[in-house]
Amino acid sequence: MLIALLPGDGIGPEVVAEAKRVLDALAIPGLAYEDALVGGAGYHEYGHPLPPETLSLARRADAILFGAVGDPRCDTLERSLRPEQAILGLRKELNLFSNLRPAKMFPELADASTLRREVAEAIDLLIVRELNGDVYFGEKGMRRTEDGLREGYDIMSYNEAEVRRIAHSAFRAARARRGLLCSVDKANVLETSQLWRDIVIEVATEYTDVALSHMYVDNAAMQLVRNPGQFDVIVTGNLFGDILSDQASMCVGSIGMLASASLDANGKGLYEPIHGSAPDIAGQGKANPLATILSAAMMLRFSLGQAEAADRIEAAVGKALASGARTADLGGTMSTSAMGDAVLAAL
Ligand code: NAI
Ligand code: MG
Repeated sequence: MLIALLPGDGIGPEVVAEAKRVLDALAIPGLAYEDALVGGAGYHEYGHPLPPETLSLARRADAILFGAVGDPRCDTLERSLRPEQAILGLRKELNLFSNLRPAKMFPELADASTLRREVAEAIDLLIVRELNGDVYFGEKGMRRTEDGLREGYDIMSYNEAEVRRIAHSAFRAARARRGLLCSVDKANVLETSQLWRDIVIEVATEYTDVALSHMYVDNAAMQLVRNPGQFDVIVTGNLFGDILSDQASMCVGSIGMLASASLDANGKGLYEPIHGSAPDIAGQGKANPLATILSAAMMLRFSLGQAEAADRIEAAVGKALASGARTADLGGTMSTSAMGDAVLAAL
C-alpha cells in the first residue's frame, strides 16, 4: 500500500512529521511512503501549487496524508496559482466529494472547550460536508455594474446527482452510528438548498431506519453551541460545512484537534486536519499535531483496512491528553514534537 505524504506549507510539515512518527511506530507491514511538494512549496519549486508530479503521486497512492496549504508570500498571485488551489484541485481531480469531519469530545479535554463541561462532554457528532460543488467551484469573476462599480460574484450551484451521492454517504454514516441525520441548508432563501432538501427527502426513503431532520444553517450554528449533544450526523454543502466544522472544532477544545477524511466513491481518501497552514505560528514548534495524528488514524481505518491500528492511535491520543499533555492551543506549553512524544509514549 502506497501512502502519499503531502505536507504543504506553514505548520503542515511540522504536524505531518509527527503523524509519520506515529505511523512508523506502529510498524504496519506493507506500507510504503512517498512525499511531494504541494501548495506554496509546489509553487516556489515548480511554479504551480499542484505540480503534475504531485497529482500523479496522489492518483497512484492508495491514500494521501495531507498537511495544509497557504502561504502569505503567495497572496498577490493570480487565483489559479495560489496555494489553496492545490487542495481544491486534489478534491476535484480525485473526485473526493465526501468529507467526514468527526467532532468527539475527549473527556480529558473538557476544560479546553469554550462550552460548559456538561454541554461539551455530550459532543459526539460527524459533519458530512459535500466537497466538489457549491460556490467554491461555480463560475466566479469580477465585473462592473451599470454604475461602474466593481462587483464580485461566485455562482452557488448543486445538481441532483451531486446532492444524491453525498446524501447516500451521510445516510450510510448515520446508519453506522446512532441513526440520526440532520440536513443543514438555507431552503427558505436559496434554490440550491431547495433542491438539496428535495433530494435528501427522496434518498431518505431508502433509509427508513435513519431519523431525518432539517435545519437552517443559521439555526444550526446556534444549536451547535447551545446543545451540540443533539447532533449525530450533520450533512451539508461545501460552504456551510466549512464554517460549521471550524465552529465544531472549538466546541471540542481546539481547531488543532479535528481530523478529516475526504473520500471518493470507492473509498480512496485524502486525510487532513481541518485547520490551515497557520502562518502566525509556523516554524515555532507550537502547532498541535493531534488533528493530523487523528487524520492518520482515519486513513488507517478507511483506506488501509487497519481499524485496530486506528483504535490504538485514538486511544494513545486520549492517554496523552489524560496525562496532561497540552500544546498552547489547549492551554499548555508543550511543543509540537513533545506532543508527538507523548502520543508515542502512550502507544
Ligand atoms: P488556520 O486554520 O490556518 O488558522 C486559524 C487559527 O488557528 C490561527 O490562529 C492558527 O494559529 C490556529 N491554528 C490552526 N491550526 C492549529 C494547530 N494545529 N495548532 C494550534 N493552533 C492552530 O486558518 P487561517 O489563518 O484562516 O488560514 C491560514 C492559511 O491556511 C490561509 O492561507 C488559508 O487559505 C489556508 N487554509 C488552508 C486549508 C487547507 O489546507 N485545507 C484550510 C484552511 C485554511
Ligand atoms: Mg475551513
